[in-house]
Amino acid sequence: NENIRILAVETSCDETAAAVIENGTTVISSVIASQMESHKRFGGVVPEIASRHHVEQITVIMEEALNEANLTFQDLHAIAVTEGPGLVGALLIGVNAAKAVAFAHGLPVIGVHHIAGHVYANHLVEPLQFPLLSLVVSGGHTELIYMKEHGSFEVIGRTRDDAVGEAYDKVARTLGLPYPGGPEIDKLAASSDEAVELPRAWLEEGSLDFSFSGLKSAVINTLHNAKQKGEIVDPGALAAGFQQSVIEVLVGKTIAASRQYGVNRLVLAGGVAANSGLRKELEKTAAKEGWALTIPPLSLCTDNAAMIGAAAYVRYQQGRFADDRLNGVPGLSI
Ligand code: KG4
Ligand code: ZN
Repeated sequence: NENIRILAVETSCDETAAAVIENGTTVISSVIASQMESHKRFGGVVPEIASRHHVEQITVIMEEALNEANLTFQDLHAIAVTEGPGLVGALLIGVNAAKAVAFAHGLPVIGVHHIAGHVYANHLVEPLQFPLLSLVVSGGHTELIYMKEHGSFEVIGRTRDDAVGEAYDKVARTLGLPYPGGPEIDKLAASSDEAVELPRAWLEEGSLDFSFSGLKSAVINTLHNAKQKGEIVDPGALAAGFQQSVIEVLVGKTIAASRQYGVNRLVLAGGVAANSGLRKELEKTAAKEGWALTIPPLSLCTDNAAMIGAAAYVRYQQGRFADDRLNGVPGLSI
């Protein structure tokens, strides 16, 4: 049995990443160049700056991933790349770099959906077993996904407005915290003994959808009203109240989905999976509900190429290769 090695590339947002994955489950190397510092002073990711950094970095990062793995292109079986969703200019750089090296070395190309990648980060921890439910929480997505088998993704709940990471970043900005705000709010919330009471958006009875824009507005209004009255709101208590509301709804809807679909295998995915409060609460709930729960290590929660390589291996086995029309698709659906 030959070992299948895939070089994976990820450039959908503000990390230029490449990794070599063997047989879909073993990380041979993983390199991530973060652009965070360049975007910080703008309070968010600036697409033009992201593209420029990706152009400068992509070749170097691919080479580094191969060097770290002690491999050359001759040792590879395929090149995988995130084709969407994401920033169009950023995606195009990864897609074209992948196509170029694949063409030069006679390798097939595999296009990967970014969210499939986040879910498959869990495959690098423990081989996925089906059926499973994935709670996907990132800067651009908040979804409950039902998977009956490898490569099959049924979205059974989604946000109707802001993604949860987006809400974290906006609330952080309101509190004057630097970008990305998620980790900042997480730290601030953990340091507070008190929590401001904020609303929970459960939506209609039985709905597995989410909504976070109302909660975000509630935070802004709380600050605004206090200011008008000349009062001071403790930022820690506000962050803690926000985080409690988010976690209660995320976990509550996940419990509802698990019961509705009769599935007790759960995997957490996306950048917000790094949240300490959410990890703790899901672990507690898993013990109570009897779930088999997988949570990726922090390094696999935020954007990386290893997860793209893991998801790509499934497509490799299914023979689902891209042709030369492969393109970056900002709004790609899963
Ligand atoms: O998955 P990701 O790296 O990029 C997207 O695909 O969107 O997720 C980034 C998001 C950001 O909104 C960031 O604030 C959030 O994940 N995030 C967190 C934490 N770490 C990252 N949110 C809450 N708590 C954290 N510890
Ligand atoms: Zn992501």
